[in-house]
Amino acid sequence: MEFGAESGVPADRRLVDPGSGGFEDERVDTGLRPRTLGEYIGQKNVTDNLKVFIEAAKGRGEPLDHVLFYGPPGLGKTTLASIIAAELGVDIRITSGPAIERAFDLAALLTNLKEGDVLFIDEVHRLNRTAEEILYTAMEDYVIDMIVGKGPSARSYRLPLPGFTLIGATTRAGSLSAPLRDRFGVISKFELYTPGELELIVRRSAGLLGIDIDEASQKELSARSRGTPRVANRLLKRVRDFAQVLGEGRIDLELTDKALSALGVDSKGLEGLDRDILRLIIERFGGGPVGIDTIAASIGEERITIEDVYEPYLLQSGLLHRTSKGRMASRDAWLWLGIEPPADAKTTQTSMFDLGGGADDAVDADNSEIEIEYAE
Ligand code: ADE
Repeated sequence: MEFGAESGVPADRRLVDPGSGGFEDERVDTGLRPRTLGEYIGQKNVTDNLKVFIEAAKGRGEPLDHVLFYGPPGLGKTTLASIIAAELGVDIRITSGPAIERAFDLAALLTNLKEGDVLFIDEVHRLNRTAEEILYTAMEDYVIDMIVGKGPSARSYRLPLPGFTLIGATTRAGSLSAPLRDRFGVISKFELYTPGELELIVRRSAGLLGIDIDEASQKELSARSRGTPRVANRLLKRVRDFAQVLGEGRIDLELTDKALSALGVDSKGLEGLDRDILRLIIERFGGGPVGIDTIAASIGEERITIEDVYEPYLLQSGLLHRTSKGRMASRDAWLWLGIEPPADAKTTQTSMFDLGGGADDAVDADNSEIEIEYAE
């Protein structure tokens, strides 16, 4: 079999792909997004601290310090940024690193902010160099230094900005330059959600959408949403479609299971490409270790997509290990694919960021490993 063939769907169309927060995701989440910190479920480590910082900034009548959110996609970074602005009682402007093509675009955004406003930049690691350099003085001193003209007649101007809060979000904290990273006063890591948290989110979303779903199905959906609210909400909507067309509208466990299986989402929440990755490691490399670039080339996916979208859940669910020599399929992964594991297959669960050092990870040093550096 050709690896990568099982899924047969482009990465941006997959049901469990948390997406990049673009138009499609806006549509999926419309009306479901929590609007206050009180409504926001999960990420307690992040929200508990933010509550203090928000209250303190409001008490002083100052803008909130700049905030960096990092972690896998689909975990609610944009949503939380909007909530922060709402809690501060200010407006938010939302953009993304790749959308800011010229320094002028960023200058226009910054000069149009009002005192205390929030500027949210998604994928902040993808800002171009000149835009990033404008941010340095904007973040530190609320000014933009501009040079107008060339040669001897060039003049430098200092443009004052209102006090503002930059909230940056990234899936790859390690790709951020040190000068930019150092200008964020608050750096918060988003974790995959627990099944219990996802269950609360599914229940809330079902209530808002008027979906009739029993408790067992809520649990099942949560367990199969790979720790990601955006996936949970998307699957909930697809299961509703099955219930409407194949059943009587009510979602029960049997229908949930049937619908999710039809969608290629297995009972651990894995879909085609997750299984492709594990099968590749097991069948072609005897369980590993295999380097990430080899996996990416064999599967026909971008390395970044594998690292940001697929690996976090495979690592957290203990099916994949990262070792100094590369990725390894765990004993559970062999069993899950119905293949007899060798006697020495690793059983211990490795935490998402318990990476160790060494050859393969040295190659990876520009991305997810940075988590360790930021851990507080
Ligand atoms: N919907 C999506 N993410 C959510 C969250 N973290 N809390 C509540 N509802 C959500």
